Amino acid sequence: MDPVKNPYGPGAGTPPPELTGRETVIHEARIALERKRVGRPHKSFILVGLRGVGKTVLLNRVEELARNAQFRTAMIEVDEDKSLAGVLVPEIRRVLYELDRLGPLSQAVKRGLRVLRSFVGAIRVNAGEVELGLDVDPEVGTADSGDLDADLAQMFIALGEAAQSRGTAVALIIDELQYLEEPEFRALIMAVHRASQRNLPILLIGAGLPPILGLAGRAKSYAERLFDYPAIGPLVAADVRHAVQEPARREGVQFDPDALDEIVRITEGYPYFVQEWAYHAWNLAAGAKISRDDVISASARAISRLDESFFRVRFDRLTPSQKLYLRAMAELGPGPHRSGDVAKKYGAKTTTAGPIRDKLISKGMIYSPSHGDVAFTVPLFDQFMKRTMPNFP
Ligand SMILES: Nc1ncnc2c1ncn2[C@@H]1O[C@H](COP(=O)(O)OP(=O)(O)O)[C@@H](O)[C@H]1O
Ligand SMILES: [Mg+2]
Repeated sequence: MDPVKNPYGPGAGTPPPELTGRETVIHEARIALERKRVGRPHKSFILVGLRGVGKTVLLNRVEELARNAQFRTAMIEVDEDKSLAGVLVPEIRRVLYELDRLGPLSQAVKRGLRVLRSFVGAIRVNAGEVELGLDVDPEVGTADSGDLDADLAQMFIALGEAAQSRGTAVALIIDELQYLEEPEFRALIMAVHRASQRNLPILLIGAGLPPILGLAGRAKSYAERLFDYPAIGPLVAADVRHAVQEPARREGVQFDPDALDEIVRITEGYPYFVQEWAYHAWNLAAGAKISRDDVISASARAISRLDESFFRVRFDRLTPSQKLYLRAMAELGPGPHRSGDVAKKYGAKTTTAGPIRDKLISKGMIYSPSHGDVAFTVPLFDQFMKRTMPNFP
């Protein structure tokens, strides 16, 4: 069928043609935003789930809601190779300038800009990381101690006061939080906490892979309680059917019921895979009816596309021993597995395998769902490992 009309959109952060199964999270986000906007306390929250479940899509949706609720929004993606401050500062700067333009001179906004200047001076953001061009003097004695915990808190307080002076609120939307270093994560949580203790209008909405839960636990004993961590999982069968059927229906096309069942079965409800299979089944179908056979024929294309992109993205950055560790894990099946069993398969002592496992965790490839266990952060990754490294050992 006409690929130009194909409504499905597999891709990182690509808005799906039909966003299904997330009503509860969206409803909760709406409440959080509304409460913050009218000055009531509310917990910030971090969406937690495997790759491809739709966290980024949800963050984009929340950004839209926030804008509609008259929030100023900062969209940030944590980078494996950059500091938290390095990615935060340009967005904070942009928001402060937005606040500045919002009305006549506000002392709180001007102060916000001066505090930002101090903050940047103190944290010694790597040269080239931030192009600042702030034509204000620093606010001496605020956010310039060089201690990230204290400085970030003062930065957020100044930002919150600036927003408050304009009768508005700030939504900090931060993706890929699992890449933060532990001290950075702690500083971020504490800063948001300090600002909310003063009832300032700042809300953090984040997303990250499951390792974020371990990070939160270690970062601060009560970090777990300061925030909510809604789990974003695969879609239930009815939502998968709806996600596939609705966009087709709008184009006058129909999936046979057993075609939908097949998509449910193969994708296990993971949104990225749902989009991928629906996309290829559409392209392969001869007419306005898509059959189970079309879905089955779509598999070869879907899998090779996933192997080249979704599965591959971070795989290429791994060392040979890290790849071998993942391959050993895959040999044991989808998981989770005991670390000790993986080490045995890998053919090394647990002490040798331990550092490799830890590195893979910090790279976001695997996580520990419970003590002593490891699991893949990407669904169906075990099968990819077997395809890409067929011979083991
Ligand atoms: N609720 C949903 N229903 C249908 N498709 C979805 C849904 N959420 C996400 N998708 C699709 O899944 C893919 C992955 O979404 P993304 O937000 O990048 O996942 P994550 O950030 O968790 O890795 C995208 O192609 C997106 O269109
Ligand atoms: Mg994402």
